[in-house]
Amino acid sequence: MKEIQLHDKTFEPYITKEQIADAIKKISFEIASYAQEDQIVFVIVLKGAFIFSAELAKQYNKKAVFEFYRLKSYEGTQTTGKVKILVDIDAELIKGKKVVILEDIVDTGNTLVKIIDELTKKEPQDLKVATLFFKPDAYTKNIPIDFIGMEIPNEFIVGYGLDYDELGRNLPIIYKLKEEKKDKMIDFILFGPPGAGKGTQAKILKDKLGLTYIATGDLFRHHIKNKTPLGQKAKAYIDKGDFVPDEITIDMIKEIISDSKVKGIIFDGFPRTVRQAESLDKLMAEKGLIIDALIALDVPEERLIKRLLNRGETSGRTDDNEKTIKHRLDLYHQKTEPVKDYYKKQNKYHEVNGVGDIDEVNQRLLDVINSIKLRGES
Ligand code: IMP
Ligand code: MG
Repeated sequence: MKEIQLHDKTFEPYITKEQIADAIKKISFEIASYAQEDQIVFVIVLKGAFIFSAELAKQYNKKAVFEFYRLKSYEGTQTTGKVKILVDIDAELIKGKKVVILEDIVDTGNTLVKIIDELTKKEPQDLKVATLFFKPDAYTKNIPIDFIGMEIPNEFIVGYGLDYDELGRNLPIIYKLKEEKKDKMIDFILFGPPGAGKGTQAKILKDKLGLTYIATGDLFRHHIKNKTPLGQKAKAYIDKGDFVPDEITIDMIKEIISDSKVKGIIFDGFPRTVRQAESLDKLMAEKGLIIDALIALDVPEERLIKRLLNRGETSGRTDDNEKTIKHRLDLYHQKTEPVKDYYKKQNKYHEVNGVGDIDEVNQRLLDVINSIKLRGES
């Protein structure tokens, strides 16, 4: 496999000419059957879609016209993402027509939403979207993509019109960014209500997979015991019976994930709120990392209560009594459960049946983890 260098990054061959040709044939065929006898106005989104569109134009043998559209997005510090139209299309070319947008790639979908908003103002009879590549794991929008050449994992690709900082567009095949952290495995959140078995399972997974286990409760205890500056700050809140502020927790986590030897992380007990999930994503991104998944252990409520009451009797954990249990479950439903939706939107949500013996549940978790790893490697 011949690698190439663009600017500061190395890329390796990823998608062949034949695969690209098949994807474009498929799109062309599907658009033709959608068009029936009508003329299609193809809107070619520049620059990236220029090669794809040229190939599609050669394949597509029904009545069609081609227009060019170019947006430039300014990526400020906020995600408001102001967009300027550099090449526009006269409204009368769109009005009342069957319009198909041609995109090279849909990633988060931010650009697409802007384009659809703008073109809708020009009152097309119908507006469809065709993209050569689609990253379902990165997509955050609800707008359906009508014609998809090929779904790809969340990899950064170049070639066939796609660029890395303007280079690589003229490559005849697709290359992907070479992974730098080779032994990196998986970073995920083990999730579930109190009593779901997170701690038990996380410890087994940590040993089996050689991962780092971050349980925020343990983290606080460790820092307090060792009288670290962060521990002393945290203690002040815990002594008053208050929640430890997110910033302190985040700083503790930061220390661990900064350690380059970390192969992968299991988070337990964090994030507990959507706000913490946002902070965690931000923190991971700063370190060039990403949360790969949230895996939720599903256990019916009656069973949770039974388990916790049992634990209270045997472990002497003072928070495992009926009244506190109820309160903790309420808090979980109110504040913590919405974290699921946060990761669902990122397509990172997985659920595992948490009822069964420890080994059985652990195997289910391993199966999910392996499927996520495979997806990331393919
Ligand atoms: P969005 O996240 O869907 O808005 O994608 C915006 C733009 O980012 C695309 O139109 C591309 O120009 C660029 N882009 C997204 N993913 C890739 C990639 O893997 N390689 C090169 N450019 C990309
Ligand atoms: Mg680009």
